[in-house]
Amino acid sequence: MIGFIVKISNKIAEVVILIPINKPILGNEEKEAVLRVLESGVLTNASAEGGPFVRTFEKELASFMGAKDAIVVNSGTAALQVSLLAMNIKPGDEVVVPSFTFAATAGAVLLIGAKPVFVDIDLNTYNIDPEAFRKAITNKTKAVIPVDLYGLPAKIDEIREIAERQGIVVIEDACQAQGASYKGRMAGTLGDVGCLSFYPGKVMTTGEGGAIITNDQELADRLRMIRTHGQIKGYDSKLLGGNFRMPEMEAAIGIVQLKKLPKFLEARAKNARILMEHLNKAPLILPQVPENIVHNWYLFTVRFTSEKIRDSVREKLLKEGIGATVYYPTPVHKLPYYTSLKYGNIQLPNTEMASKTVLSLPVNPLVEIKDLEKMSKIIFDVLS
Ligand SMILES: Cc1ncc(COP(=O)(O)O)c(C=O)c1O
Repeated sequence: MIGFIVKISNKIAEVVILIPINKPILGNEEKEAVLRVLESGVLTNASAEGGPFVRTFEKELASFMGAKDAIVVNSGTAALQVSLLAMNIKPGDEVVVPSFTFAATAGAVLLIGAKPVFVDIDLNTYNIDPEAFRKAITNKTKAVIPVDLYGLPAKIDEIREIAERQGIVVIEDACQAQGASYKGRMAGTLGDVGCLSFYPGKVMTTGEGGAIITNDQELADRLRMIRTHGQIKGYDSKLLGGNFRMPEMEAAIGIVQLKKLPKFLEARAKNARILMEHLNKAPLILPQVPENIVHNWYLFTVRFTSEKIRDSVREKLLKEGIGATVYYPTPVHKLPYYTSLKYGNIQLPNTEMASKTVLSLPVNPLVEIKDLEKMSKIIFDVLS
């Protein structure tokens, strides 16, 4: 049981979360995998190709993704940063991003000295609005980062068509969407490169970790070098890079988690289906999944008619131990650091509306049918 001090509306309350929104699911196989690395005495490898566990994880991940290559790194943020560097995005270049996302999407752009340009979302999917992207393009625009928010792939065909016409690189932020798909292709393979995160709350974890997915062999070679100081064998830097390497222990956990992932995703899909049926007649907006798209149900996010109603539903769920969470209460362009950069006055009405009215409900593999029934009953009680 986890005790949390949370701010609900304007009140501070302590709540015990019995059903968290997400949590890592780890067993003996992960423990044994870590021990195998410790016994080998090889904890990392600073060459471009990485150590044996990294290489195996990459091979199995590429095969899971249906892609030619996967390059693992030490976080999803690193995956974005390394991708931007490998794509030659430079200080002064503009990169179009949604503001309705985790701060890492825009932060990675700033970290390499480029300028994030925030655009609005489409309220049906909570993902970047392709038309808003088109309108934001200037002669400085070099990349776009569509985010597959909550685990639902963005409108990639429209985005790619606009980007390709203008020579703009598409870096897919699939950090929340591993296992989702779009017209039969995996989220993470939909852009020129795709980024995944293995943070503990994600659909699978390595502790901290991330990956870059690509079908371009020459780009894969560059990505591998950038993750380790631009080196190939060691002490031979040919490109500017950094230490973005995934340690061997994380890769060993990743190999085990990846094998379990299909079962995790199945359980999420089942829980989402049940919750969808329970809430079908509730006065709220359910997640919309367009045809030909498979959601990975990292987050099951509903929308209410007002902030007040959303907050009262959340308060009641939290009091009952259900970790209903708002992703994201503050759009990135309104976070303190971004307002200090004078982003605060941009008008993004759909983003603002979503941040005030959305609520994510737990459907992770540990959630049971009785929990879903309890959640639904609380929601109906508050709304009636
Ligand atoms: C949309 C999005 N982008 C990027 C990241 C960054 O991933 P990480 O936390 O592994 O650095 C996350 C994860 O939290 C995310 O949700």
